[in-house]
Parts: sequence; C-alpha cells; structure tokens
Amino acid sequence: MDALQSVDRTKLPQHIAIIMDGNGRWAKERGEDRVYGHHEGVVSVREIVNGCAELGISYLTLYAFSTENWNRPKEEVNALMELLVNTIRKEAEELKKNNVRMHVIGDFCSLPEICQKELNEAIDMTAANTGLNLILALSYSSRWEMIDAAKKMAADAVSGKLKPEEINDTIFHKYLNTAAFPDPELMIRTSGEYRISNFLLYQLAYAELYFTDVHWPDFRKPQLYEALLNYQQRERRFGKTSEQIQTNTPQHA
Ligand code: IPE
Ligand code: IPE
Ligand code: MG
Repeated sequence: MDALQSVDRTKLPQHIAIIMDGNGRWAKERGEDRVYGHHEGVVSVREIVNGCAELGISYLTLYAFSTENWNRPKEEVNALMELLVNTIRKEAEELKKNNVRMHVIGDFCSLPEICQKELNEAIDMTAANTGLNLILALSYSSRWEMIDAAKKMAADAVSGKLKPEEINDTIFHKYLNTAAFPDPELMIRTSGEYRISNFLLYQLAYAELYFTDVHWPDFRKPQLYEALLNYQQRERRFGKTSEQIQTNTPQHA
C-alpha cells in the first residue's frame, strides 16, 4: 500500500502551512547557482498545490519570501521577484481551471509594481473559485504583521471604533493579514532547519510542527503524504489530558 492510500481522508488538516526552505543548498549540492534551486522549487510548489487540491485540503499557506529575505544579495532578490512574476503569469490560468483561489499575505506594497500587478490579476481571476485557498506569504513576517495589526487597532481605538477592553482573541485575529483563514493545524519546514523564521507566530500557537531534512525542490507528493501520515499519528491535546481527549472529543474536530 503506498503512502497516499494510508492517508486517512477523515483526519486531514484543514490548513497546511509550509516554510519552503533549502532551494539554495539543493542547487549548491549539484554545483549549480542558487537561483537554479529556486526554479526547481517552483516545480515542487505546483506539485504540492495539486496534491493538496486533490486531497481536498481547504487552505495551503506557502512562505515564499520573508521580510528578512530583502537582505539577500540584490541579484538573488531580483531573480526571485522575476521568477514570481513569470510563475504567476504562467500558472494563473491553471489555478483558475483547477478551482484554486489565490491570496497574498505580507507587505504587498513593498513588492515591485509588476509583481503587484500580476498578483492582483491572479487574485481577481481566481476570486470565484471554491476549492483550495492558496495563500502566498510574500514580503511577510509575523512581527511585521502583528505590528501592522497593533497600528490598525490603535487607530481604531483612537477613532472610537474599537474599545480596548473588548479586545480578545477573535478581535485580534480580525486585524491580522490572515483574518479570513483558520489557523494551520500542520506546519511543515523542509531542509533540516528547526526554526520558525518569523512565520505565523500567532497562528501556529497549536499547530503540529513537522520538520524534514528533504530540501524543498525534492519535496513532492510522496513527501507530502509522509508528513500527513506523521500528523495523523499525533494526539492534539490543546492543554487537556490524554484521557480527556480519548474519552470526550474527537481528535481532529
Ligand atoms: C528557500 O530556500 C527559498 C527562499 C527563502 C526564498 P533558500 O533560498 O533559503 O535555500 P537555502 O536555505 O539557502 O538552502
Ligand atoms: C524562511 O527561509 C523564509 C522562506 C522560506 C521564504 P530562510 O532560509 O530565509 O530562513 P532562515 O534565514 O534560514 O531562518
Ligand atoms: Mg533558507
């Protein structure tokens, strides 16, 4: 029985978030330029998007470019932005056809105008789709997002739209870039780094974390199914005891 057949379709996460890491190392191992790794990484993106759509996953967030990634050498940043524009241009039709709806989180205005234009077109083109929600984190960092939320909340408090004493988890969530999406149940990071790198710090509060040594360009459907099988073996306790979980609530409710 292959990994896909072993995946329990009744215990799938609704939302998977992925830190796609290791493109540079993958390329270096092959004596190639880092940018070659980014190109190959796009093939993995396509396959994982399709894999999630086929399984009926509702939300997939991909960390594609962090706030801190602006500090990379200019040539690499430019190559990544160019790759982003070309990929969106090429793939938008396919996303539309496959009922995938695209979203972007992050500091949208900091992206080059041509990127903003292509992204906006793809977002509009896929707006009516009802299948997988593909959320690209671009020029994103969790601290940027939370500071941005704090600024908006402060402004609303000053104008009288928000009462500070009423702020709770639900209201705070509404001010985040991810307001429209549920929190991820599973976070995957490739390439053997055991850190979060400023990704969805608030939203990952109770996510199951899965780390693999596989570099992103080698992370394809079989590796996705492996991550899901691993996730399905976890007991999600949310502060309760194991006994409470086993006698009361269904584990993946
Ligand atoms: C992830 O791969 C892609 C981006 C951060 C844009 P890296 O480029 O970080 O690859 P490594 O970590 O250097 O191998
Ligand atoms: C995290 O990867 C950001 C993305 C995958 C877009 P990095 O490679 O930039 O993370 P660090 O610097 O190793 O923590
Ligand atoms: Mg990296």
